[in-house]
Amino acid sequence: MKFTILSASALISTTLADLPSCQIYTNNQCAGDTITTDETFNANRWFTPVRGSVDWQESFQDYSHLTGYAKITYDKGMQSATVTVDAMHKANATLTYEFDGISQDASTATFTPSNAKGPISLTITASDKTTINLEPLDFVWNAADIDLTYPKGDYRGGQKGAIVEMFGWPHADVEMECKFLAEAGYMGVKVFPPQEQIMSTEPFQNIMNPWYFMYQPVSYKLEGRMGTRDDLRSMINTCRSLGVRVYADAVVNHMTGGGNDANPYHRNPNADCQNFGAKQSTAGSPMYTQDYTYTESEETGLPPLQEFPAAGYGPLDFHCERSLNSWTDPLDLNAGWLTGLTDLNTERENVQERIAAYMTDLISIGFSGFRMDAAKHIQPDDLIAIFSKLKANLGGEMPDDWITWLEILLGGEKDLLMCDPDSGYNYGSYLEDGLIAAGFSAADVEKVKIWNSGYPKEPDAGACTISKSRNAIQNDDADQQNPGSTSRDMGDQGCVLIKDCGDAAEHREFEKKLFESPNGIEDEDADYPIRLVLSSFYFVDGVQGIPDGKSDCSLCETECDTCTGVSLAPAWVEESVGYDGTDYTRAHRDPEVIKSMQAWMGI
Ligand SMILES: *[C@@H]1O[C@H](CO)[C@@H](O)[C@H](O)[C@H]1NC(C)=O
Repeated sequence: MKFTILSASALISTTLADLPSCQIYTNNQCAGDTITTDETFNANRWFTPVRGSVDWQESFQDYSHLTGYAKITYDKGMQSATVTVDAMHKANATLTYEFDGISQDASTATFTPSNAKGPISLTITASDKTTINLEPLDFVWNAADIDLTYPKGDYRGGQKGAIVEMFGWPHADVEMECKFLAEAGYMGVKVFPPQEQIMSTEPFQNIMNPWYFMYQPVSYKLEGRMGTRDDLRSMINTCRSLGVRVYADAVVNHMTGGGNDANPYHRNPNADCQNFGAKQSTAGSPMYTQDYTYTESEETGLPPLQEFPAAGYGPLDFHCERSLNSWTDPLDLNAGWLTGLTDLNTERENVQERIAAYMTDLISIGFSGFRMDAAKHIQPDDLIAIFSKLKANLGGEMPDDWITWLEILLGGEKDLLMCDPDSGYNYGSYLEDGLIAAGFSAADVEKVKIWNSGYPKEPDAGACTISKSRNAIQNDDADQQNPGSTSRDMGDQGCVLIKDCGDAAEHREFEKKLFESPNGIEDEDADYPIRLVLSSFYFVDGVQGIPDGKSDCSLCETECDTCTGVSLAPAWVEESVGYDGTDYTRAHRDPEVIKSMQAWMGI
């Protein structure tokens, strides 16, 4: 993802204790090799306005005083689970917990298929009457069984197959597409980030809600741009019952960009002291960052730091602010704020636990695995710790059909990242050895794939110290579609449909090649078991908005004369045969691509 943080809006006045002239707070910038946020900044927590105050919104609940999240730990076999609520109150008031309507003092409860026949609700209430409703919880036993009888092919229980990445498809449209995917023989569908994300009523860099807002999490509520938690559950169950697995795009390296938050008061000294207001989000949770701020909280007398109460994150859970400039320095790669995105301190055990709890929630609602976005910016040791916690949550072993693929963009750093196990920052055999040392079986390690960005031009780059049976490959990917993207060089061995392919026929040949004779394949039976097909949308006049209706300039409320947008078009079109030329590409519906995929899968 690539973007800058600034945006303009009408001048907003405030009565809080402001910094003078055009000063802004510049706290918590990293010094030297320090990557942590100093403990003293914990005092900046609780920035959310209190109920009833001017800037309070109903959806902020009592996050001014109370924060927390629930985590599921399954017993072996995953037919019973302990739910633990990890909560914190500003003044340490006594808490009571409501699990599915039953109030109790203890913060844990046990669930089985007999007392949790559907999602359960969770509420925390403090002795000072402040209260928050948490995201409901789903359990694996309520997800529809995957129909293993249809389609017939070499799926290896979910360890081999083609996955369609349905970029910009609302959950409801994916649900309607599942029948087609099943009949074609696709193993699964990957949906784009399903969690709560930022939205805006004002164009961002002149674009109405660009696609990359999906990669700026506000919380791990499964209520994103593509639909609600109920929409998602319904889609997953429909797909699974047709034999189609569903995978999530897990964004866990970072939260929103600095300045892209719910604080109404920002200004930019580098742009004529322009003021800009709050961003919204898909579920309305509060969210704060330290950037472009000049006001203090009336409650704490301090400016905001990084705080995402609906995810349970506070200031210390983030790395101090450091721009990510070097692509060869492990410290920068791990702790830098990638394009200004607030970077989670994944060295902290509570952060690892929070991320593992989110992944457990994804599995619980019926996902079969996930892409890990920006995995290269989470150092290998931290990934091992996160996966270890996930494995413990899932009863001690990974589900049979689970897979993940790590986004490790190799660029010129293939030695550091893949080929030199002793580089100190290696996702090749170093990561593999680390997983084994952490107690992963060889079979479970095999399920952790590296998305080989060297394919198709340098296919050996992503497999130099590991087997290609641990590679996921694809032709074009969503990030490459962005104007000016240089993230992957495919040379003349591949092309990006909406950008630089000569025509649909050229793209089709590269998709067929992916299944028939992918570059670098040595072992036909074992190599590249996961192959991804991007099904996207055309960027009309280069505008990075999605035709889901939410990039339409009719939604604009501020600075609208500069708005560029995209109007609504249905993603699901029953009669499409792929490469439709307008709106959505639906490349996965092309009969020739399907035929090549079926031959590979023995269908
Ligand atoms: C709440 O408890 C924590 C941990 O014991 C302590 O550090 C903090 O000072 C307490 N806060 C208040 C307001 O009493």
